Amino acid sequence: MTVPDPDSPTRSVLITGASRGIGRATADAFAAAGWQVVAGVRDRRELAPFSDAGVEVVEFDVTEPNEVRAGVAAAEGLVGGSLACVVNNAGWALFGAVEDVDIDLARREFETNLFGAVAVLQAALPAMRRVGAGVVVNVSTLSGRIPLPLFGMYSASKLALAAVSEALALELETCGIRVVLLEAGVVRTDFARSTVISGAAGGGDPLYGTTRDRILGTLRGIRDQGALRPEDVAHAIVRAAGDSRTPFRVVLEDPGLAPLAKAVGGPDRESHEHVRRFFGLDAVAHRNGPP
Ligand SMILES: NC(=O)c1ccc[n+]([C@@H]2O[C@H](COP(=O)([O-])OP(=O)(O)OC[C@H]3O[C@@H](n4cnc5c(N)ncnc54)[C@H](OP(=O)(O)O)[C@@H]3O)[C@@H](O)[C@H]2O)c1
Repeated sequence: MTVPDPDSPTRSVLITGASRGIGRATADAFAAAGWQVVAGVRDRRELAPFSDAGVEVVEFDVTEPNEVRAGVAAAEGLVGGSLACVVNNAGWALFGAVEDVDIDLARREFETNLFGAVAVLQAALPAMRRVGAGVVVNVSTLSGRIPLPLFGMYSASKLALAAVSEALALELETCGIRVVLLEAGVVRTDFARSTVISGAAGGGDPLYGTTRDRILGTLRGIRDQGALRPEDVAHAIVRAAGDSRTPFRVVLEDPGLAPLAKAVGGPDRESHEHVRRFFGLDAVAHRNGPP
């Protein structure tokens, strides 16, 4: 079995959700830095070529346990042993009010964002543990720390990933495996198009209409003008994977959301006021039930 050497040019990485967005940029950035890259995708049929022809592709859906086990085993086969790094990036958001969001959709979101990441780790960690080396990078979001209205389930799934990552870091710190949680602000990708809308947040209902318009309007403005590029996140991930001095939590703020991220941090009540002001929600009156 190959022992991953952090200084070796054959450092190897498996990235989930590498078909597009942050995952694809991360695959390209690792390849440019000389890593042996395995891109985890759900469907390779429509896949555009990676910038480096050496990037290998394995197909698996992180919510399908058999596919995950076979996909990680295939990745290990391609790199000739234990993976030096695993990047859990596959994820999507559910947009809906806690009050009426479809709970089955919320469960499916957790299956990808939380349990999918755990399944990939359960498949990859035994080999890493045997060689006593490796890095796990779990991709999270600033809205894991600053839950936003109508993104409650998404924030919850990423907060849960943060908790699991923290426990994992403590569980693995004595066996040479590092864990990094990367919290990124708004990134210019197709994430909004993959976002699933549920319940009254879908519009056409006055209940959450104004909140929806203000949240989406602000986020669209940030995405168009002040967002991070997927390459920015990719480079932060490659740096974190290669540098053993990287702290557990890496925060990558985008210029647009940075003022909110800086303001939040006080007691809950104060944080809520910052969020309301930032998105212009102060004056939004929600319809109450009958008196
Ligand atoms: N964009 C942002 O503003 C932002 C900010 C902070 C954190 N993030 C996080 O960064 C990660 C990537 O987001 P992105 O912006 O690059 O989004 P994206 O462009 O929508 O890409 C999402 C990726 O996840 C994959 N995926 C979704 N469900 C999957 C599943 N069940 N199994 C395997 N792959 C699956 C998609 O594959 P398919 O092509 O097959 O659909 C795609 O490759 C997510 O975890 C997201 O929460 C995003």
